[in-house]
Amino acid sequence: MENKDHYAKKLIVANWKMNPSSGSDARTMFSAINKVASTLQNVETVICPPLIYLESLGEMVTTRSCVLGAQDAFWEHVGAYTGQVSADMIFNAKARYVIVGHSERRAMGETDEVVNKKIKNILQFPLIPIVCVGELSRDSDDYAMVIKQQIHHACHQLSVDHIKRLVIAYEPVWAIGSGAVRPCTEQECFDVVLMIRQVLADLLSSSDLAKNIPILYGGSISAENAQSFLTSAGIDGLLVGRASLDPEQFITIIRSAEKI
Ligand code: PGA
Repeated sequence: MENKDHYAKKLIVANWKMNPSSGSDARTMFSAINKVASTLQNVETVICPPLIYLESLGEMVTTRSCVLGAQDAFWEHVGAYTGQVSADMIFNAKARYVIVGHSERRAMGETDEVVNKKIKNILQFPLIPIVCVGELSRDSDDYAMVIKQQIHHACHQLSVDHIKRLVIAYEPVWAIGSGAVRPCTEQECFDVVLMIRQVLADLLSSSDLAKNIPILYGGSISAENAQSFLTSAGIDGLLVGRASLDPEQFITIIRSAEKI
């Protein structure tokens, strides 16, 4: 799907992280979400399960409104790389998106250089990278520079056509997960999204092209705050962690996106 179509629809991405613990639970969750997500006109829902469930969930995909993504992909195609899974395997398993550079992977040692290598490889397939950026803390004034540099590194040596295919997810690390310091406000998100659009406009030498790149927000999104982020934080969608593990709560989120 072209980015301009994304832009018309809200993009709601579920990052299941290392959950659930069985394939049958994953299928039950996917089936409950797909039942509603596949009927929505204004939302594209992307479920990113652990890789081991990708193929079996792929058989359950019924529409382009509810599709699959991976949480990571290695940068080589094939070979002696124990434990790694390549972008072509992910594409062949019918996924359409790949999350890259999530802060939990960066915390395990993934560098900006690795993120860039992964993005370049993913773009060789009809896959869309969801590139996560975000500062560790708001304590110093240079958080904007951190985000800017992450985007610059992510886009290193990418052509304009490649940059146009990216989705950017702004995920302030201090607002993610059960250890969140405090919630990010819609205004704080709005300001960063504006800055990200400017960085993209500079890279693309075009603010029109930059406007078509979907920017998501992620960090403690719930059924309670999803609508307010979607209406006032300047974003095109959400990347949802914990709340995506409860199908009822996640369905409330996608339904609220449908109404906007
Ligand atoms: P959270 O996670 O919604 O549980 O804060 C978001 C993420 O890590 O993508």
